[in-house]
Amino acid sequence: MEAYTAQQYQESAAALERRLGGFRPKVLLILGSGLGALGDEVENPVAVPYEEVPHMRRSTAPDHRGQFLFGRLAGQDAAVMQGRLHTYEGWSFADVSYPVRVLRLLGAETVIVTNAAGAVNTAFSAGDIMLITDHIKLFGESPLRGPNLEQFGPRFPDMSRVYTPALQEAARRAAERLEIPLREGVYMFFPGPQYETPAEVRAARLLGADAVGMSTVPEAITAAHCGMRVLGFTLCTNMAAGVLDQPLSGEEVIAAAGAAGPRFQALVRACLKEV
Ligand code: HPA
Repeated sequence: MEAYTAQQYQESAAALERRLGGFRPKVLLILGSGLGALGDEVENPVAVPYEEVPHMRRSTAPDHRGQFLFGRLAGQDAAVMQGRLHTYEGWSFADVSYPVRVLRLLGAETVIVTNAAGAVNTAFSAGDIMLITDHIKLFGESPLRGPNLEQFGPRFPDMSRVYTPALQEAARRAAERLEIPLREGVYMFFPGPQYETPAEVRAARLLGADAVGMSTVPEAITAAHCGMRVLGFTLCTNMAAGVLDQPLSGEEVIAAAGAAGPRFQALVRACLKEV
């Protein structure tokens, strides 16, 4: 698929501007599998289904509602994505991170990305929350493939601090204050939709991954490219394949995300106050 043009991003931003009146989100919060409930706390939300944004793809994943909610959340002017897009749905990296650039054009400066993932680090347990300190994607696609749009960022962007150190610090402080145990580590992208094999999980561990999942990295790369601050949280809904002697299921992931929801939401709410 062709890369998007600057004009397409601008048309999407203009369409949202018309819906939003004078409201301008400062923070984009992307809610992962089973974590959409926080969107329900947006005050007087303006809801915009993804299919009403010109050029934007639809969310087809289970438990992803597929809409923006614009409004105040935890004291911030926020755009919340209730459900994200994934490459396993058939979308490209550029498709799934399209909304990041649109929100950048609307003036958002920070992205908070959340996801459900499998824990690779054997010191972790299902239900743990992990602060993302870095990621591994290796090879293959990039959301930045194709002609570079200079107004967003450089051709060869630095990725040495994708996850903003000051926001990581804020997250650690918030977790401590709330007495929520917070793991830290490296998130490794796998394209899915099949879960990883035990051998892939062992390989991921050798490479330095602490969790494996099917999202987040396209949006984080795109946000870093256009100079946005990024904060990422992973909810480890299960031990990754082969860690325990039991099969993985999508239902288990969504149930675990629901069970950890209140803790996760409290942490994200606290971080929203600090970004
Ligand atoms: N692997 C990949 N993605 C996931 C997992 C997993 O084990 N759990 C939740 N999302």
